Amino acid sequence: MRFTIAIDGPAAAGKGTIARALARRLGIAYLDTGLLYRAVGARVAEGADPVAAAQSLTEADLARPDLRSLTASEAASRVAALPAVRAALVDFQRRFARRQGGAVLDGRDIGTVICPDAEVKLFVTADAETRARRRWLEAGGEYAPEPLATVLDRVRARDARDMGRADAPLRPAEDALILDTTELDIDTAIARALQAVNDRLRPRD
Ligand code: CDP
Repeated sequence: MRFTIAIDGPAAAGKGTIARALARRLGIAYLDTGLLYRAVGARVAEGADPVAAAQSLTEADLARPDLRSLTASEAASRVAALPAVRAALVDFQRRFARRQGGAVLDGRDIGTVICPDAEVKLFVTADAETRARRRWLEAGGEYAPEPLATVLDRVRARDARDMGRADAPLRPAEDALILDTTELDIDTAIARALQAVNDRLRPRD
């Protein structure tokens, strides 16, 4: 069976957690495409050329322990605005998406550019304050290195860069189901996503 689930949305909306949970429940593969851009950003920070880095990514680059930092997030969103970097990563993502057994991919342009034919498309979002608070709590809340207001500024700046870029801007595909998690706990959000997949899988009469 080839079955692709495309999940897009802004930072800290919950898409990674939802994507991982769907992959586990359905027993299919999962690719966090943000890691590709994070790994390119990390190589560029070390002096590499962005396109050369995107063309030569290895498993070891994707397993780097420093890819989740705020610095890596910002480096990722900068290289992600370069069309040649995005183009270099397309084939890898499409091959992964159509692998035997099915796959879940999460990112910013999966339903719109990478897999416009995905069987299920979800756009997971939440308001910026809620997403910033989640990131701040993950980073330690009161003990986080940055105050909530700074995290909110960074979330807004990254949203603006991701939505405003000319190539593959962040936006829902026309046929995506919008899942707003502002008021949802993560279990409810996962249950809704699973429901959307089951609705799509159930044969219509
Ligand atoms: O987990 P979080 O949403 O904070 O970030 P991520 O999904 O790892 O993505 C990091 C950055 O990579 C984003 O801000 C985007 O600029 C870029 N990205 C992209 O352009 N296209 C994708 N398919 C995935 C990520």
